[in-house]
Formats: sequence, structure tokens, C-alpha cells
Amino acid sequence: MRLDTDTRTLTREKVRLFVTGDCEGLSELRQALERHGEIELVGASESAAESVAALRGGHLSVVLHGTRDSRLPQNELATIREHTAAPVILLASGESSALLEEALAADVADVLLLPQMTENVVFAIRKAGQGGRRPPGGHASRGRIVTVFSPKGGTGKTVIATNTAASIAKNEGKRALLVDLDLQFGDAAIMLGIEPEKTIYDLVVAPGELDNEKVAGYVTRHACGLDILPAPLRPEDAELVTEAKLAQLLEVARDSYDVIVVDTSPFFHGPMLATLDRTDELLLICSLDVPTLKNVRLALQTLDLLSFPSERIRLVLNRANSKVGMKPGEVEGALERKVRFEIPSDRAVPISVNRGTPAVLSDARAEFSRAVREMAKAVVPAEADAAKGGRRWFGR
Ligand SMILES: Nc1ncnc2c1ncn2[C@@H]1O[C@H](COP(=O)(O)OP(=O)(O)OP(=O)(O)O)[C@@H](O)[C@H]1O
Ligand SMILES: [Mg+2]
Repeated sequence: MRLDTDTRTLTREKVRLFVTGDCEGLSELRQALERHGEIELVGASESAAESVAALRGGHLSVVLHGTRDSRLPQNELATIREHTAAPVILLASGESSALLEEALAADVADVLLLPQMTENVVFAIRKAGQGGRRPPGGHASRGRIVTVFSPKGGTGKTVIATNTAASIAKNEGKRALLVDLDLQFGDAAIMLGIEPEKTIYDLVVAPGELDNEKVAGYVTRHACGLDILPAPLRPEDAELVTEAKLAQLLEVARDSYDVIVVDTSPFFHGPMLATLDRTDELLLICSLDVPTLKNVRLALQTLDLLSFPSERIRLVLNRANSKVGMKPGEVEGALERKVRFEIPSDRAVPISVNRGTPAVLSDARAEFSRAVREMAKAVVPAEADAAKGGRRWFGR
């Protein structure tokens, strides 16, 4: 019964697989997996160190690692572990009891000796992907991470992130957290009219373990019910918010919030990569101007190089109704991708920014507010999904 449910879930979505290492029979197996309908082979490389970007940003469900050694490939496994939480299946060509014993003791999901029927390997991959790394604390339901990004400054990231987060808290009634990842010059707090006493910097440098209780002690609550972790007050403090700290923070926050909205700066820095690796919906903001389009196109190429799943990108056209000699259709043509949400230009926005209240709260009837409300509703997980855990790569 349980297996039926699992199989049905998995047939809907391909398992995102990465193959590293080498052993006899691995290249034939890789080719067979590449053709298999349930597998999406994100990439392959002979050593884990060659594929750090894909391991980190590839939203992998499982990593297969082939080894010719008769002992556990500790270094390779450590490199894989450093960059992804996906379960690892070890493949070897010769029987070695030392290898099997060491693998059992280590954090390896399964060991398979080649040659194997492809279906057996796919079964092991599915099993590892489902039962792999559980979220810390073992909770079934985990928050959805919505990242608002644009490779160009001033396109409306913060306006859209703050209004979307406020709408998720107020109109959708969800437990929502806004994280300001514009670490040097973030202004999400100011747009929400909040004077924070504590910021993300204070949270990450505080002694002791970073857990739910600690996060709760460092967020600032807005009147609409939204919690916010503002950017550091001084630009020089940004560098202490490291990639590892951010990864830890997001993992912990996912257990306490239904949705975590992340406002960003126009860079792919370490903490941003940790965020992308956990992002369920990437709201990629563009506008009707040529330099922004050029940069959004480059950002799409970078996301592709990072193996970020394309189906998680939602193109958002801000100020979509501006009369500037370019139409939304031209944006779609230039980026070879559909615009998912159009947000109109509206004077309610600068007015609300200057007052420090999100337009969705202070001017709910404004056109901008309606559009953001619709978008917020669409990115929030449906109740049924939330109950299931809502995540499509649960094995991570
Ligand atoms: N839809 C809109 N209608 C009217 N004004 C808007 C709209 N979107 C953004 N703006 C204006 O553009 C300004 C810049 O927006 P915002 O600060 O959100 O951009 P950003 O991408 O976060 O910039 P940065 O890269 O500097 O962080 C805001 O002060 C706001 O007044
Ligand atoms: Mg901003």
C-alpha cells in the first residue's frame, strides 16, 4: 500500500540524479539511466570536485558514486557531502567486504555491486530518494522557500518581496518569514516600517546551536503577522553571514514557517547559492528595459549552469504596463520563456514605500496590490501539498 503511494508520487516527477566517480560498468549504466523515463540525469563527472556547482545548486534527489577502491572513498564522499545533502549510493565492481562494512557504518544510502539490471538500480535510486535525508527534527511538513531575485538593481525585488510576504501572512493566513539577503544594503525592514533591534547578523553570530527557539528570539514581528529577519545594520557585518550559516538557518526556519520569502541582491554569492539550493519558487524579476533583459538572460544561463531546475523559475514582469516602447510579448521572445506574473506600475507603490507600509496592506484596492495578492496566493502551497510535506524532492 505504502509502496503504491510512493510509486505513484514518483512517476509524476523524475528523480534528479548526478553520477560521480568511476568503476567497471558505470558508463553503460549511466547511458541506460539517461534513457530511463523516471530519471533525469543532471550530469556526471569523474570526481566530485569537478562538479561542485551542480552538486550545490542542482536540487539533486540522489548521487551515484562509482569507486574502483576496495575501501570506502572517504575523500570523495566528504566532497559530495560538503556540497549536497542528497543521499549517496555507492557503486563498485568487485566484491569487498571491507567496503560493504565501511559503507554500512558511513552515511551511505546503499551499496550496489555492478553489473546490475537497470531496473534494480532505479529501484534503489527511488528508495534512497524517498527515504534519504530527513529534515532535521524529522518533521513531515516543511516550509516553502520563495526567493525573489533579479540580476539588476532597482527592478522592484524588495517591493515585491515585502508585499508578497505581507500578503502571505495577512491574506493567506500562513506562518511567513521574510529573510533580507541583500546583506550589505538591505532595506526590507524600512519598507515594512520596522526599526529592528536584531538582525540576521546577530542571529548567526550568537553563541550556541541555531535552532527554532533561537530563530524565534531574533525575528521581528510585523503587525500583519509577518516575521522578518532584517539585513545586518552595517555593510561590513555581511561577510559573517556565511553560506553554511544561511543553509543552517533556512533548514531550521523551514520547520517553523509555512513560507519563507527571501529578498536578495543582484549577485550569486555563497549565501545566495545556499538559498537557491533550497528554493522551491524563484521569482525572477524583470522589467521592460533592454539592460535588465540582457542581465536576466545571463542570469538564466547562470541558473542553468548551476543546474537549477528550470521549472521552478517564474518570470515576473514588474511595471508591466509602462509605456516604454516594449511589450511583454517581446520580453517573452527575448528570454524564450513565458511571463508568469505581470505586476503593474502603480503610484501606490512609492507612496507606500515612503510611508513604510506595504501597499497590499495600506492600499488593498490598488492594481499593484491585487496583482501581488494573486501572485502570493499562487506561490503558497495548496493545503493538500502542505500536509504531504509539499516538497518535490523530499529525499534531500
Ligand atoms: N510596480 C511598481 N510601481 C511603481 N513603483 C515601483 C514598482 N516597483 C518598484 N517601484 C519603485 O522602484 C523603487 C525600487 O524598488 P526596489 O527597492 O524594490 O528595487 P530592488 O530591486 O529591491 O532594488 P535594489 O537592487 O537596490 O535592492 C522602489 O522605491 C519603488 O518605489
Ligand atoms: Mg532591494
